[in-house]
Amino acid sequence: MNLLELCVKKLGVCFIEKCYEPLHLKHYDIGESWGRIYQRSVELCTCLGGEVICKRARYTVCLRNHCENDGVCRIIEATGEEVCGCKSGYIGKYCNINPQEQCYRDSGAQYRGLANATVSGSPCLPWNSDLLFNELTVDTVDSATLRGLGEHAFCRNPDQDKLPWCYTTSDRAISWEYCNIQPCSKQPFTRRDPVIAATPRPSRTPARTPVCGKRHKKRISRARILGGTSALPGAHPWMAALYIRDEFCAGTLVSSCWIVSAAHCFLSNPLQSQIRVVLGQHGFNDTGPNTRTFDVEKYILYPLYTQFQPTLNDIALVKLKKVNGSCAQKTPFIRPICLPGKDTTFPDHYCCKISGWGHMSEKANSYSQLIEGVVKIIPFDHCSSPEVYGSEVRSGMLCAGSDSCVDACQGDSGGPLACECDGVSFLYGIISWGDGCGRSGKPGVYTLVPKYADWINSVIKRSKKKTTANRTKINICIGNQCQR
Ligand code: ARG
Repeated sequence: MNLLELCVKKLGVCFIEKCYEPLHLKHYDIGESWGRIYQRSVELCTCLGGEVICKRARYTVCLRNHCENDGVCRIIEATGEEVCGCKSGYIGKYCNINPQEQCYRDSGAQYRGLANATVSGSPCLPWNSDLLFNELTVDTVDSATLRGLGEHAFCRNPDQDKLPWCYTTSDRAISWEYCNIQPCSKQPFTRRDPVIAATPRPSRTPARTPVCGKRHKKRISRARILGGTSALPGAHPWMAALYIRDEFCAGTLVSSCWIVSAAHCFLSNPLQSQIRVVLGQHGFNDTGPNTRTFDVEKYILYPLYTQFQPTLNDIALVKLKKVNGSCAQKTPFIRPICLPGKDTTFPDHYCCKISGWGHMSEKANSYSQLIEGVVKIIPFDHCSSPEVYGSEVRSGMLCAGSDSCVDACQGDSGGPLACECDGVSFLYGIISWGDGCGRSGKPGVYTLVPKYADWINSVIKRSKKKTTANRTKINICIGNQCQR
């Protein structure tokens, strides 16, 4: 058996793993024991002083065979461990790895090969990595083995994505990326991602899937900006980063060419040429294969907005300049959010998401990775009571906060308060102002988007046909309890 002295670096920490078990494609630590079926005999092996010592072991048959691809299952009496003997062509603890597979079919849900790097060349993290405690892993996904997950770092598609992918680390944060593997039958031509909103849905489709408001989920639901947690790429694909001279604001993509942001971000009256918009961005000021950068054709502040009362009617629209005839093209990392109708209401205490690159504390002055947090809608009467904000809060504003001090902060302005209904996210608020950040009893205040829905639509002047998805009729969406 191979004896390998390996230093496997995980986030800079060196783990020594001493013995390699080729049947499991896995390194075991010194002192560790494991069962296996090798040339039909059931064995118990131990990694001793860097050497693998195996002895035949007594066994019984398994009550339920969890070995895949017709592997046989045995229980080692001494340890109770279930071990698999794989049919030829398969390996792995559960016989669910096929080293011959060089390409994937359809969406690659059945891909069981050994590709373990992403399109950008990053190595994949193992699906049981401790770093992934919040993500889709062997321990958190139902029937993980059947979906090809295991204690390995091979590309898989356990979540009905379009092709195999894996988690990686980039800039010391967890990220994910598609893998560098080819489909088995290369299509004669590959369909390009459609331009957002330029593809009217066929009118006879029974249940229309909206083209807006769908996040790319690579995380099991969890709730836990300020007090938030790092987002995964694709989780807020409508986020726009607005670099305005030396200033920074966020915005939200609502259609191929239009971003909704806060009017106060433009207080310095910048020229269009002094604004740059980046879509698909994850790290602040970080462009890469998933980002697209746009110049600005024009920006429009709400007509009643005045710099003398910068918290009132704090909304602006930014039009992107086309690149080769189009603005934002849809990708897993770039897609618009849905606009609410003018009568859309999410009830008090409803949980919505905020996201942004803004300061992580009131005193901070640097920007961050994209951070997300959950906040609850606060009753207007409470927010406008003298002990909170009194008459500073007006109609056309909305307050939201959390007991655990999740809040937006400087640099998050213009970004979305996204409220989800049946898996579709709506731009319900725009991050606008607050007394400090995350102060107890001082929630964040947001521009109430439904109040400006008619204005937005009149400016964007989208034809009726194209707006069907964005006009998804929801008047009240109930029920969304904040998950802990
Ligand atoms: N005005 C800030 C900005 O320009 C956003 C403040 C939001 N504050 C809050 N506590 N929610 O970035």
